[in-house]
Amino acid sequence: MNKSFRTALALAALAALPVLAVPLAKVALATDKQPVAQTAQAPQSSTARDVAASGRPAFTGADGLTVQEAAPIPKDVTDDRRKQRNYPEQPPVIPHSVAGYQLDLNANKCLTCHSREMTGDSQAPMVSVTHFQDRDGQVLGAVSARRYFCLQCHVPQSDVQPRVPNLFQDVDSVIRGAHPPAAKGGK
Ligand code: HEC
Ligand code: HEC
Repeated sequence: MNKSFRTALALAALAALPVLAVPLAKVALATDKQPVAQTAQAPQSSTARDVAASGRPAFTGADGLTVQEAAPIPKDVTDDRRKQRNYPEQPPVIPHSVAGYQLDLNANKCLTCHSREMTGDSQAPMVSVTHFQDRDGQVLGAVSARRYFCLQCHVPQSDVQPRVPNLFQDVDSVIRGAHPPAAKGGK
């Protein structure tokens, strides 16, 4: 009786071991592994930063490939001529320089010319009435928050060849193509 009770106790203790051991091992592994992972990552990311910041024209990579520096970004077109839109709802592209214009939570340089109250002095086109509507169509007194970051939708252009051929046709040429002489003859 006594003997079998002791064996049962011992077995119970053995069975409980993994339950105790797992959390203990987890703690031990966690404290062991974290610093190792950190030291393994740190040099990698700083090397990537160094290469990007070095500005070298070309360099030979680890596997012997020569990496070319990308061509410089072409200058923006800043001829102040408003461009035709490809469809009525297109956000018009920006025909002037926006270099260094502050556009963040503290200041919006664009609105110093394009807001309703400034257009008299600036002669810039006013932001359109849609820019005063919130997402429910409710018209607000000031430019809506969803139209605050102008460069989300309006972008400058540069004089470059498109990477892929552009087959876009605007709606007027599609309509003209659909009924050419018939429409004219009917008139
Ligand atoms: C110093 C005043 C001024 C500032 C600042 C300014 N603009 Fe303009 N913007 C103009 C004027 C004036 C025009 C009319 C065309 C021209 O003269 O370049 C114009 C034209 C535009 C157009 C073309 C509108 C159309 O109907 O084709 C867009 C889009 C535009 N600006 C966006 C912006 C954005 C976005 C910013 C801020 C990053 C900005 N502008 C800052 C004065 C300004
Ligand atoms: C979410 C996209 C979006 C944002 C953000 C936005 N616009 Fe527009 N904008 C448009 C679209 C689309 C149009 C053309 C259709 C319309 O009027 O709504 C337009 C039209 C304009 C026009 C031409 C108005 C006219 O009547 O010819 C001006 C100027 C303009 N936006 C300036 C701005 C400025 C300045 C800001 C930042 C304060 C801004 N937009 C933010 C999408 C946007």
